[in-house]
Amino acid sequence: MNILLLGSGGREHALAWKMVKSHHCDQLFIAPGNAGTAQFGTNISIGINDFEAQKKFCIKNKIHMLVVGPEEPLVNGVYDFFKNDETLKNIIVVGPSKEAAQLEGSKSFSKKFMQRHNIPTAGYAEFTKENFEEGKKYLLQHSLPIVLKADGLAAGKGVVICTDHNKALQVFEEMIINKQFGDASSKVVVEEFLEGIEVSVFILTDGKDYQIIGHAKDYKRIGEGDTGPNTGGMGCVSPVPFVSDIFMQKVEERIIKPTVAGLQKENLIYNGFIFFGLIKINDDPFVIEYNCRMGDPETEVVIPRLQTDMVAMFAAMDNGTLIDVNIYTDEKKYATVVAVSGGYPGDYKKNVQINGFPDVQVNNSSIVFHAGTKINEEGNLVTNGGRVLTVTSVAETITDAAKKSIKILEQIHFDGMYYRKDIGYEFEEES
Ligand code: AMP
Ligand code: GLY
Repeated sequence: MNILLLGSGGREHALAWKMVKSHHCDQLFIAPGNAGTAQFGTNISIGINDFEAQKKFCIKNKIHMLVVGPEEPLVNGVYDFFKNDETLKNIIVVGPSKEAAQLEGSKSFSKKFMQRHNIPTAGYAEFTKENFEEGKKYLLQHSLPIVLKADGLAAGKGVVICTDHNKALQVFEEMIINKQFGDASSKVVVEEFLEGIEVSVFILTDGKDYQIIGHAKDYKRIGEGDTGPNTGGMGCVSPVPFVSDIFMQKVEERIIKPTVAGLQKENLIYNGFIFFGLIKINDDPFVIEYNCRMGDPETEVVIPRLQTDMVAMFAAMDNGTLIDVNIYTDEKKYATVVAVSGGYPGDYKKNVQINGFPDVQVNNSSIVFHAGTKINEEGNLVTNGGRVLTVTSVAETITDAAKKSIKILEQIHFDGMYYRKDIGYEFEEES
């Protein structure tokens, strides 16, 4: 099979690394890819939202499967674009339809969906310009903290947790009236704050059956000890010690099954990953968010743990035999540590030379995935983003896995390079 993968992050490097292991994969192309994906396939300079250019490329290169890494093309309707086109409709698309991608693309859509299907989540209300004054009253009587969410995609910045009412009013006005996130914040979801521990669970579904691919805990804050601003993710561990079989059973019964049944009941076409962002309160799971794709850096621990052929799994999802796939997961412990550019998640420099970079597969227990990297015109490896690379390692304990990743990172250098040295810190005793 010839495969086109959309995206350019660590997630896509991990997906590329995994897919080329499959004997079903003949040629792999990545649009636009990074310096790492170029080692497993051919990077092509087509944008993730340029569906017309993707169409031409797919026809010319006899593509059989399109794997969509990031959410944007899905929310913009890449699935529908392919399925509604006579020349493309037989290509397997890994990702949901535009309508179903609203599970991630619209907080309001996902909250209503959860309500309709009795899926545990935080209580909420939603407001626009039309009921702005009513919204202000609602905020003033709301218990603290208050969670405000821009309805649409806002590059991971659309959620603000306010610890006082004045701040909440200010953010509310900024989003709705001043259109802080453009159309994405013309509607705002105001949500009850849930206090607990976060964990993410990943499934692959054809909208009828599903397979659990894995779970992970990520570390979102820039600083050690979970301090400072939020980032796209500074590291991840999997498996997560507090995710017991009993807890996973609750996730399956209360969240996964009703979600997939809900998709089917509402005729929402879904052929891809669902990322359940969960919060564990006491021993009960609640949904914080749905994403219609894999996570980054979650993919970098979940996919190396997965021992099943991924391309075969995608094909099974497409032909209605997903239920027959056997999922094998390595029981050893995985940790990934992300190295970022100085200044991230604020402003940072690009095109900074990277030295000491080892091969992707460093040894039997560590893999280096590229994220924001590229080869410049002089042929040197340079930074090309906030999150530059991530090192995933496997060991008998989470602590040892994280230590191995740090050892590899100590050999790599670029000006301003920063990474957290405490990924998995809270599991030191139990892992
Ligand atoms: P989201 O973009 O919905 O994933 O939200 C980003 C982050 O905000 C989540 O990963 C949580 O850490 C936090 N968050 C979102 N909703 C809530 C909530 N209702 N209660 C507590 N924290 C939340
Ligand atoms: N690491 C969080 C995400 O991919 O959304």
